[in-house]
Amino acid sequence: RFDTLQAPPKDPILGVKEEFLADAATDKINLSVGAYRTDEGQPWVLPPVAEARKRLIEGKLEHEYLPSTGLKSYCDRVDLLLRGKTSETSATVQGLSGTGGLRLCFEFLRRHHSPTVYVPAVTWSNHWNVLRDAGCDARPYTYLDGIKLDWPKLVADLEQAEEGAIILLHLCAHNPSGVDPSSEQWRELCALCQRKRFLPVFDSAYLGFASGDVDKDAAPFRLFCENGLQPWACISFSKNFGLYSERAGAVVASCASAREASAVRGHLGKLARALYSNPPAFGARVVDAVLADAALEARWRECLVVMSGRIADMRAKLRSALEARTARDWFVHCVGIKVRASARAIDATVCHAIDATVSARWRDGRCPRRSHITSQVGMFSYTGLNKQQVLRLRAEHHVYMLESGRLSMAGVTSSNVEPLAAAIAAVL
Ligand code: LMR
Repeated sequence: RFDTLQAPPKDPILGVKEEFLADAATDKINLSVGAYRTDEGQPWVLPPVAEARKRLIEGKLEHEYLPSTGLKSYCDRVDLLLRGKTSETSATVQGLSGTGGLRLCFEFLRRHHSPTVYVPAVTWSNHWNVLRDAGCDARPYTYLDGIKLDWPKLVADLEQAEEGAIILLHLCAHNPSGVDPSSEQWRELCALCQRKRFLPVFDSAYLGFASGDVDKDAAPFRLFCENGLQPWACISFSKNFGLYSERAGAVVASCASAREASAVRGHLGKLARALYSNPPAFGARVVDAVLADAALEARWRECLVVMSGRIADMRAKLRSALEARTARDWFVHCVGIKVRASARAIDATVCHAIDATVSARWRDGRCPRRSHITSQVGMFSYTGLNKQQVLRLRAEHHVYMLESGRLSMAGVTSSNVEPLAAAIAAVL
C-alpha cells in the first residue's frame, strides 16, 4: 500500500541534532536546535520552575482533563504577561507551545478570516510546514538583504500585499536571523498594517530573550494594540521557561468586544477538540504557579536576564575570537563597500576578492568587524556561512549548525568558543 512512498527529507533543524547525536567524536559542538545551555553546556532547569514543579508534585495534583481551551487561570496570566494589563476583549486559549499554537491560530484564521498569509522570506522553517498543513496560502515578503534588514523592500512588498491579509511577524529575536526592526520601524509597520487592514500575527517564542525584559520584548504587540489594531500572538514557553517538552503555549486573539472574544475562544476550543481534544496540563500549571507568585515571578524574570546575558556574553566572545583569527569581515558593509548578495551567496571567493580593500580599511579602523554577531539579538546568529562551509564544519570539525548558516548562540560556551572560532576560520 505504501510501497511507492519515499522517506521524507530530514527536518532542517531537528535532523541536524540527529546527525550530531550520531557523531562519535568527543569534541563535537551542537549549535543546531534552539535550546538554552549553561556555560557548562548543560540544559538548565530554571530555579523558579523547579520550585513550582516541587510545589505541584507535593500538592494535590490530579490528572483530570483540561477544557479544550486549556487552564483558565494560566490563560489569564499569560494574557496579562503579554499585554501588561487585563483586557475584556482578549480571547486567550492554551496552545501546544509554538507550533501547536500557530497551527490552531491559522486553522481558525483560514476558516474565519483569510487563507492568505504573508511570511518573512527568511523565517523559522517550520512556519512553512504549519501554514501548508493548515491550508493557508503562504506568500513571502522580503526581510533581509544578506544579514541586514531590507527595510525598503520589506515595506514595498507589504504595500503590494493583498488588503486585509494576515501578516506573520516575529515579536522579537527573529528566528533565524536575530535581526529585529527598530522601534521606529515597528511604528511604521504598525501604520502600514492599519492602512492595509492587515491582521498581524506575532510569533512570540522568545519573549524575554531579546532584551532580558519581557515588557520591552512585548512592546511591538502592545504598540499595535494601542493603535487600534487587533493583533494575535502565538506564545511558546519552551525557551523562556525552559519547558521544551511540556508544550506550554498560548494563542492570544485581540477582539473587538467581549462577545466576539467569547465566540473566538469557543471556536478555538472547538478546533482544539478535533485536533488533540485538550492540551497537556503540567507545563501550563508550572507557568501558572510561577506567574501567580510574585517572588517566583521575580526570580523567573532574573533568569531571563541571566540567559540573555550569557548569550550576549558569548556573542562578544565569539566575535573577538573570530576577529583575532580572520582578517576580513565576510559581511562587509563598510565605508564605500557594500557587498550586495544574499547571505548564502557570499562565499570565500567573494571575500578573497574584497579582502585587500577591507583589510586596509580595517587597519584604518573604518571597517566594522564582525559586528553582526553582537548586533543580532536572541538565541540565534545568522552567520552568513554558506551551505558548503556549514557542511565542512560538520565533516571536518564536528560543529553542527543549520545549512542556512544559523548558529544557536545558546550552545556556545566559554570552553567551546575558541575551538568554534578556529573551525569557522578554517572553513572561510
Ligand atoms: C529552533 O528554531 O531551533 C527551535 O524553535 C526548535 C524547533 O522546533 O525548531
